[in-house]
Amino acid sequence: MSIIKRENELINKFGLELLTKNDFPYKHTYINRKIFFACRGKNELKNMIKNRNFYLLTGIMPSYERIHLGTIAVIEAFKYFQKLANISILVIADLEALSTRGIFLDKSKEYALKYHIPSYLALGIDPQKTLFYYQSENIDLQKIAFDVSYETTLSELQAIYGDSHPSRILASTYQVADILFPQLYKTMYGLIPVGLDQDPHIRFCRDYIRRTRLYKFKQVSSVYVRSVPGLNGSEKMSKSDPENAIFLPEDDLDILKKKIWLSFSGGGATVMEHKEKGANLEIDVPYNILRFLLKDEKELNEIAHRYKSGEMLSGEIKEFTYIKLLEFLKEFNEKFSYFQDYVSKQNIMFINSYKEISNIV
Ligand code: TRP
Repeated sequence: MSIIKRENELINKFGLELLTKNDFPYKHTYINRKIFFACRGKNELKNMIKNRNFYLLTGIMPSYERIHLGTIAVIEAFKYFQKLANISILVIADLEALSTRGIFLDKSKEYALKYHIPSYLALGIDPQKTLFYYQSENIDLQKIAFDVSYETTLSELQAIYGDSHPSRILASTYQVADILFPQLYKTMYGLIPVGLDQDPHIRFCRDYIRRTRLYKFKQVSSVYVRSVPGLNGSEKMSKSDPENAIFLPEDDLDILKKKIWLSFSGGGATVMEHKEKGANLEIDVPYNILRFLLKDEKELNEIAHRYKSGEMLSGEIKEFTYIKLLEFLKEFNEKFSYFQDYVSKQNIMFINSYKEISNIV
């Protein structure tokens, strides 16, 4: 099944609301391209955008040293809404990495400090405006997580996750705690940009907000971003499938070239067939990478037109994508080294409790 069809099915089945241009306060190429494409809790989202009184929060699970290109859409969404949010928080989900991947805390901290946080900053997250915390060091999360567990039944978790392994339960209650944690500081709406795979947590969290007797939380909304497809044409890049992902940074450019060259093509099987029928853009991996990389709308449209009509060949779009990736990586690498140094000098703002938010905001 194609990526788009699968997403449409998720949308219909889980009642997500699609977002259009008018739902956003200002421009971004990812809006036109439907990369920022859906949400849960549209009314609250409208309110947040109108009144600009909300917090922004998302999480990184540092289960592998480097991030992959697939992460850029969430980072772009974070940057986009960071301009409007009162507080923005990036959670380092080290407990989740422990309970779902068996990564020890020291290791995930090292990954976060050396790779993940510098990568997020290199891609444009504002270090002056972003608060960070490790799940394992934030002493307030448990106050929410334990109430979540009190208000939840096993069958509910099974219905949401289809799985009720204890590690899942712990990670999920902590994720709900992450999402609501800023409200211990101040009750306000929360905006959570994530990939569609995180929707179960959002549903769980929104249900819990309605149910808890202990807290008066305001509702949260998610904004869903589309994923960069895996190089073999799978739905998304994954750290556990390195052959089919592009990593940031990606050091071996020959391997990168090979990866792009072997990536799944929507072009015709032969040049003749291609010239006759053109390419299927929906399933073509290089084209879909370009949708995330190219900033210029006109340039992307032109390529879409030439490739779809069969004028541009699959080899040509691969070559072009490789060149664009090189440009992107060059810029990324420079900023990445700068921010590795920046983070190692403890220039970023870590917090361990909600009380520390008031010292900073
Ligand atoms: N579960 C997320 C992931 O797999 C990470 C995460 C933890 C998160 N806490 C969060 C995301 C809170 C959004 C909000 O990457």
